[in-house]
Amino acid sequence: MNVLIFGSGGRESAFAWSIAQSGLLSNLYIAPGNPGLSEVGTCIELDWRDRDMVADFCLRNDIHIVVVGPEEPLVHGLADYFAFHPELERIHFIGPREEAAQLEGSKDYAKAFMKRHGIPTAAYRTFTKNELEAAKMYVLSQDGPYVLKADGLAGGKGVVILDHVVDALKELDSMLGEAKFGSASSRVVIEEHLTGPEFSVFVLTDGENYILLPQATDYKRVGEGQTGPNTGGMGAISPVPFVTPDVLGQVHREIIQPTIEGLQAEQIPYCGFIFFGLMLTADGPKVIEYNVRMGDPETEAVLARLDEDLLALMIDAARGHIATRPAAVKPETAITVVMTAPGYPGEYPKGLAITGAELPSEGSLLFHSGTALRDGQLVTNGGRVLAITGLGADAEEAKTRAYARVDQIQFEGKQVRRDIGTIYGWPLDAKK
Ligand code: AMP
Ligand code: GLY
Repeated sequence: MNVLIFGSGGRESAFAWSIAQSGLLSNLYIAPGNPGLSEVGTCIELDWRDRDMVADFCLRNDIHIVVVGPEEPLVHGLADYFAFHPELERIHFIGPREEAAQLEGSKDYAKAFMKRHGIPTAAYRTFTKNELEAAKMYVLSQDGPYVLKADGLAGGKGVVILDHVVDALKELDSMLGEAKFGSASSRVVIEEHLTGPEFSVFVLTDGENYILLPQATDYKRVGEGQTGPNTGGMGAISPVPFVTPDVLGQVHREIIQPTIEGLQAEQIPYCGFIFFGLMLTADGPKVIEYNVRMGDPETEAVLARLDEDLLALMIDAARGHIATRPAAVKPETAITVVMTAPGYPGEYPKGLAITGAELPSEGSLLFHSGTALRDGQLVTNGGRVLAITGLGADAEEAKTRAYARVDQIQFEGKQVRRDIGTIYGWPLDAKK
């Protein structure tokens, strides 16, 4: 089978690494890919926005299945293009169509969906830019902290949490009044503030049944001890120690099953991954957000533990042949450490020479993210540069192996968090 993956990050590198092990694979193409990906497949210049080119490429190269890494192509209807194009409709496509992708593309859509289907999540109200005064009145009637979310995609920056009411009112002015996040903040969701440790649950679904993938938790803040600004993710661990079989059972009954049944009841087809961003509150697990794709860097930890043929699972999903069950998983712990450029998540330089990436290291995997080749030299080409996954019998061993690999790779100003694997906010009663 010929496979085309869209994306170029650590997540897509992990997809490619996993798919490359499948006996079903003939040719693997990645658009646009990166230097690491060109070692497992063929990287091609193909922009998902250029639909005619995409169609032409798929037909000329006899692509059987398309796998979309990031959310943007999905939110902009790439799956719909394949579904309704007479020559492409036979090509399997992993990723939901535009309507279902609104679960990630619009916070208000996701909250309303959860409300309709009784899925546990923070209480909320949505306000449009014409309702600025009403939004302020609402904030004044609530206790802090205040959780304000731009409705649309804002590159992970659209959530603002403020302790003081004055700051919340100012932020509303900026989001709704001054379009701080452009059209993404023409609507703002104001949510009840929840507390508890966060974790992520991933499924691959055909819209009716689902395979449960390993759980993970990511480390969003740039600084050790969960400090500093949010990033795309500085690391991940799988499994998550506080996600017991009981918690998982509750997530299945109260969150995953009602989500999939809700999609079916509303006749919204869904073939692809659902990423449930959850918080384990004192009242049980609640949904913080849906994503319609896998997480980065969670995928680099999750797939390292998956003990199944990912390509075969994807084909089953596309054919509607999934049976609801947990995936076979290796018993090891995986810890992924992201190496970033200096300055990230703010401004950062590109083109810094990377050394040591080729050195092997026991029990670890290296996934390229923001890298490029310049005159044969591997250089940085993004904020998140490399993701290193260590696998071990326990978290300690996984961590030792991940950091041993991290330490043999150098580039100027390289930034890593040294506390990946530490579980914050658990047990619950240790919190204030
Ligand atoms: P989101 O982009 O919706 O995942 O939000 C980003 C981060 O903001 C989450 O990972 C949480 O840490 C935090 N957050 C979002 N919603 C809430 C909430 N209702 N209560 C507390 N923290 C939240
Ligand atoms: N690591 C969080 C995300 O992929 O959205």
